[in-house]
Amino acid sequence: MTHLIHEEVKDDLLSRGYSRRQMLRTAMMFSGAAATGLTMNTELAFAADEEAGGKGMVRIGSNECWTGPMEPGLKAGQAALVNSNRYSPNNEVANLLKTISTVENIPEDHIAVYPGSGGILARTLVAFCSPTKGFVQADPTYDNPTRVAKFIKTPMSNVPLTSDYRHDVKAMLAANPNAGVYYVVNPNNPTGTMTPMAEIEWLVNNKPAGAIVLIDEAYIHWHKDFPNNTANHLVRAGKEVIIARTFSKVFGMAGARCGFLMASPEVLKKVAIFETDRPSIPTAACANASLTATSIINARRKELMDNRAMTVEYLTKRGFKPIGESHANMIMVDWKKPAQQMQDIYKAQGVLIANPRWPSWPTVGRISIGNKAEMEAFCNATGKILA
Ligand SMILES: Cc1ncc(COP(=O)(O)O)c(C=O)c1O
Repeated sequence: MTHLIHEEVKDDLLSRGYSRRQMLRTAMMFSGAAATGLTMNTELAFAADEEAGGKGMVRIGSNECWTGPMEPGLKAGQAALVNSNRYSPNNEVANLLKTISTVENIPEDHIAVYPGSGGILARTLVAFCSPTKGFVQADPTYDNPTRVAKFIKTPMSNVPLTSDYRHDVKAMLAANPNAGVYYVVNPNNPTGTMTPMAEIEWLVNNKPAGAIVLIDEAYIHWHKDFPNNTANHLVRAGKEVIIARTFSKVFGMAGARCGFLMASPEVLKKVAIFETDRPSIPTAACANASLTATSIINARRKELMDNRAMTVEYLTKRGFKPIGESHANMIMVDWKKPAQQMQDIYKAQGVLIANPRWPSWPTVGRISIGNKAEMEAFCNATGKILA
C-alpha cells in the first residue's frame, strides 16, 4: 500500500522518524479506513449510529445543520449530476477554487478542496507530526485528531481550556515547545467558545519554526462577527498556519462531503501526501453556488442564534446554565451526573443528544442546536425529565 505515497513524501516520512510499518499504517488510514475499522470523523460515525437507531427521533447530537443544501446549491448540484458521466464536465472543482479565492481574498494556489475537512485534519497530522514531533490540542476539543494521533503514534499533549474556556495558548506551547502541530478549534467543539485572535497570533508567532498552527474554523459562521472572525489573514501574511473549513455546517452538506484548507503552496503540497481525493462534481458545484448565497447564509445564522438563545434561556431557568458562551451550533451542560445516563434518558424521550466522549468532563453533555421545533422538543423533554 505504500505505493500510494509519493517517493519524496516517503523520504520525508522516513527522515521524520516514521518506521516502514508506521508508514504503511498511515497509508491505510487514507486508503483503507473502513478495512482498518477506523472512522476518523467522530461526528460522522455518531451520525451513522443515530441513523441506525434514530428513525423519527429529534437528532441534535452531531452538530449538523437542521436543513439541507441551499436552493442555488441544489440547482447547480443537480445540473452537474446530469453531466457526471464526464470526470469534469464544467471545471466544477476549479470553479469552486476560484469562488473560495474571491470570497476569502486568498490566492487560488493557497487553497485546496477535499471531501470534507476531517481528512484535512488527519493529513495535517501525518504531514507535520511524527514519533519525534508531537501534537498539542486543547481539552476538551474536537476528537478526530486524537484518533489520528493515536493511530500514527505521535506524542500527544492535552491542555485544559482556561477557566473561561479559551485555548490556553501559552500552556499549549509550554506543554510541548517542539511539537509538529498545535490545534486550535475556533469556535471550539464541543464548547462553542472562542479564543481571541490576539492569542492565536501569539501562538503563531511563538511556536517553533517548521511547526504548524492548525486553525479549525468549522463553526465560524455561527459567530455574530462572521465574516470578520477568521484567521485567514495569517495565511495572507505567509505564516505557518493551516485554516480548515467545511461545508458540513451552515451549508447543510455534511453527507455531501466537502471542505477546504488555506495555507501556503508549500504546506498544501505537504498535506497532499498521498494521491488526493477530491469532492464529487455535484458536490463541488453545490458548494460553489452556496458559498455566495449570502442572504441564505445570514438567514440560517439568525435562525440558529435565535434557537440557541431560546435554549440557553430555558436551560438557565431550569438551573442548567450552559458552560461558557457558545458561538457555535452546540451548547454544553453539566448534568452533575454521568453524561451517558443523561443521553440514555433523553433517548427514551425521543431526543438524541451527543454521545459523551470527553473523558475529562464525564458529567457534561453536548446538545447541538437544531430548528425551532427541534429545540422546543428538547426543552419539552427536559421539562419531563426534570419533573
Ligand atoms: C471542529 C470540527 N472540525 C472538523 C469537522 C469535520 O467535518 P467534515 O469532515 O464533515 O468536514 C467537524 C465535524 O463535526 C468538527 O466538529
